[in-house]
Amino acid sequence: MKDLLRTADLSRADVELLLNTAADFAANPLRSSTALANKSVAIYMTKPSTRTRLASETAVAHLGGTPIFIRGDELQLGRGETIADTARIISGYCDALIIRTFAQSDVDELGANASVPVINGLTDDDHPTQLLADWVTIRENFGADIAGRKFVYLGDGNNMAHAWLTMGAIMGAHVVAATPTGAWAPDAKVVAQANAIAATTGATIEVTNDPEAAAKDASVLYTDVWMSMGDPESERIEKTKALSPFAVSQQLMDLTAKDSIFMHCLPAHREEEVATSVIDGPKSVIWREAFHRRTTIQALLYHLTRGELQGR
Ligand code: CP
Ligand code: NVA
Repeated sequence: MKDLLRTADLSRADVELLLNTAADFAANPLRSSTALANKSVAIYMTKPSTRTRLASETAVAHLGGTPIFIRGDELQLGRGETIADTARIISGYCDALIIRTFAQSDVDELGANASVPVINGLTDDDHPTQLLADWVTIRENFGADIAGRKFVYLGDGNNMAHAWLTMGAIMGAHVVAATPTGAWAPDAKVVAQANAIAATTGATIEVTNDPEAAAKDASVLYTDVWMSMGDPESERIEKTKALSPFAVSQQLMDLTAKDSIFMHCLPAHREEEVATSVIDGPKSVIWREAFHRRTTIQALLYHLTRGELQGR
């Protein structure tokens, strides 16, 4: 496996390796401090980022490499140079590329034309690196035995919902996406793919529009912003109305299992998709989850640049 273009690229064995290495990097960030010595990693983003950018830059630094951050408007790509040509040029200077942008097809094209690893740092369709941090955090709270546990995402059927269902399928988990029907439901193709993966791993994939039923006895309630980067502002009022039953209220949190946790990829909008009492309450693990963005990107860079991931 050369690239991580989408969550579904990962095998269960790859995820296990990455989670273990991330735990090692959490304990000792500098344990492989020369792995990328004399190497550079380009980080190219056409959308804003706090966590993914800083986690990526610090991960490269901890591996002894040089991160090169490039804003979307800084490359000739924005002036008509092709993605394929850009991929070849970056491959000549850098040892990996982390990209955040809109179209998944652009990331796929970069991967196909770059000779170095390309990592998806979020597209409109997927957010694979986030899910690695989420699953390290899930492991820290519940251990590896997740039989009988239910992992619930509530909100927009967006990139996060897709990644949640897909990674849950890979991990053999009972995962739920509780979303509105219609325009803000998860992509049917992604759900079908998650079900196909689930058939090989013993996972259960559930898509529902009943937030109370989803929350009942859940081990995790997870949510994301209602307006994602690039979503048309003209949809805000209608979308907010459709999503409001899926807000993680204190009442919804009270329906969950005794040892449940609250998760959020961040950035968050308090009193919109989540109640302040929940996100800042005792069940919230958001800061540890955000911390693991670095440990997991560090693990991913480490293993991908060494050619140690097999893919699914
Ligand atoms: N969760 C996440 O990807 O955050 P940023 O948009 O700040 O990178
Ligand atoms: N769904 C959000 C996730 C942000 C990390 C977005 O794409 O903006």
